[in-house]
Order: sequence, then C-alpha cells, then structure tokens
Amino acid sequence: MKILAIETSCDETAVAIVTDGKSILTNIVASSVDLQKKYGGIVPEVAARKQVEFMVPVLHEAMTGFTEDDIDAIAVTVGPGLIGSLLVGVETAKTLAFAWNKPLIPVNHVLAHIYAVFLFEPNLQPIRFPAIALVVSGGHTELYFMENEKTLKWLGGTLDDAAGEAFDKTARLLGLPYPGGPEIEKAANQFKAESLKFKVKLPRPMFSGETLNFSFSGLKTAVLREWKKLTNSQPTTHNLQLISAFAHEIQEAITDVLVSKTLSAAHIYQAKSIIVSGGVAANQRLKDKFNLQLTTYNLQLLVPPPKLCVDSATYIAAYAFYHHHPVTRQSIDAIPNLSVEI
Ligand code: KG4
Ligand code: ZN
Repeated sequence: MKILAIETSCDETAVAIVTDGKSILTNIVASSVDLQKKYGGIVPEVAARKQVEFMVPVLHEAMTGFTEDDIDAIAVTVGPGLIGSLLVGVETAKTLAFAWNKPLIPVNHVLAHIYAVFLFEPNLQPIRFPAIALVVSGGHTELYFMENEKTLKWLGGTLDDAAGEAFDKTARLLGLPYPGGPEIEKAANQFKAESLKFKVKLPRPMFSGETLNFSFSGLKTAVLREWKKLTNSQPTTHNLQLISAFAHEIQEAITDVLVSKTLSAAHIYQAKSIIVSGGVAANQRLKDKFNLQLTTYNLQLLVPPPKLCVDSATYIAAYAFYHHHPVTRQSIDAIPNLSVEI
C-alpha cells in the first residue's frame, strides 16, 4: 500500500510517499527554519505563510514520477501543532482525497514520531516487543508502552517544558541560535578538561521516584542563576570555555533524566526494546548513554537515523499504515491541542 503523507504541524512543509509503512519512495521537506532563526524561535504566522507558499511546489516535487493511480491513501497530521500550519496540510489533504477519491487518514504527530523506527534503514533490526517508546521533540516528552506495533499506551510525560524546549530555552540563555539542541550538542563537544575549572552543576529534576513524568522547567531557572553567577566573576575572554561547560552540563542533566525514566519504565513493564524518537533522539550523547545500559538491562535500542528523527512526512505515512482508520473529509479537522495521552 502506497500512502502519500503531508506534515505541516510546525515550521516544515513536508510530503512523503511510503510503501507498506516501510519503504520511503520520496521524502521532500521545505523548512522556514533559517527565517525563524532571525526571530530566535518559531513565529506561527511566519511559519504558516511560508507553508502556504511551499505546499504546492513540495507536493509537485514529491509526485514527480508518480500519478494519482499509484497512491492508495492520503495521510495528514491533524495535531498537535500550530493551528495556521496544521490547516495548510489538512486542507491540502482534504482537497487531494476529494479530487483523487482516496481514503483520508488523520495522524497524531507525536505518536507518529515513534513509527520512524519502522522505516527501512540497512542497520535497523526488527523490533522485539513489548517495547517502551520515548518521544522527545520540541514540544513533547512522552513515554509509551507498546505491546506490539499497533498498540500504544501512554505512561507519562512532561509536566512543563519538553526536553527539546529545555535545550532550546537554555541555548538561548547562553546566546546560542535556534534550534538550541544541535547547538548545545556542538558546544558540549568543545568541552575540554580546562572547562572543568567552571564548576557548573545543574539539578536532575524528578530523576527518581515512582512517577514516569518529567519536569524540565527548573533547569532553565538554574541555568540562568548559575550563568549570572559565573559570568559576573569571570573575564569575558573565557566565554567559549564557559559556554561549553554549561552546554556539557545541560546535555548531561537532560540526558540523565531521559535515560533514567525510560529505563525505569522498561523495568516496570519488562520491555525487550527501547525506541527513542523525535528531534532530541538525534543527540549522540543520549544514544551513547542508552547504549551503555543495554547489556545490563538486556534491551534492544532502536533510534532512527538523525534525518528521520527531525520532522518529515515519512513517519506520518508509516503511522497511517499501522493505524489505517480513514475518515470522511467532512469530519477531519486540525486540532492544535490534540491529546497525546492515549
Ligand atoms: O521532532 P522535532 O524535529 O520537532 C517537533 O516535533 O517539535 O524536534 C525539534 C526539537 C528541537 O527542540 C531541537 O532543539 C531538538 O529537537 N533537537 C535536538 C537535536 N537536534 C534537534 N536536541 C538535542 N540534540 C540534538 N542533536
Ligand atoms: Zn516532531
């Protein structure tokens, strides 16, 4: 089954065609991130205006070499996300489904991130179930239990900021550009022994305890307090070392919490695999920390390659293949605050 999927929940305009939730035939993504960088974050109206401009050319490029007869169904992200952005994708999907007379499948963007691990990559192994799935994106940090590839049970999530948001907000405090995750990772890689002279110590919020929820907003406050303290007492010539010391500790704090909570969930639910997806799953230190624990816990780790961690329509199509529940075009709608707790 070939599914054409459309994703416009944030600042990307993406179209993909995927066969049987596995083989990516085409994957086109246009982003307004360079424009958003100027503002230090996403400006919803700027994102939506760009999506209106990009939608038809992206669709046209994705369909090159295909005709409507090749497509079996249309899938589209209906939420969660920015209302103006979501509407661009949903209206396009409705129009295509009507014009081509194809089934229309609504997709939850956060749940769909998990299905990036089903997309074919030479190094990806078959998944051993039951599995624990961690979704770490710009707006979400959620844990799910998966009995098999079709069932998802929400176990916990962030009570305030998401992990990606924590990277983005703390990066901003350090004067690093948007999006902050890759910038923090780059600066943390510059961390050298001499940076140790800056004694940066940040909290690991909700590190242990019974709940499988997360909280990252305290990290931002702690970074601000420590940053002020250290920048007031250091000559500005040490700025690069200081930034790398902070970036290193921010990355350590966020990844420590993510790994510890996910392993607790794996232990409680006797999981055989851990799936990590969403933009933050592109972080190498996070993957290294999980890898260090695998043999102790006898777990398999599945992380999509970085290009499938960040937003695209590929895993929207993969999700729609496993959750093939078409709806009428009269009943489909953009739902900005669509729940991820299922
Ligand atoms: O999944 P995604 O592309 O978009 C959303 O659905 O939100 O995730 C974007 C988030 C941003 O917060 C970005 O800073 C973070 O993923 N991110 C990273 C890395 N690459 C992207 N965080 C840490 N390390 C990275 N290498
Ligand atoms: Zn996403």
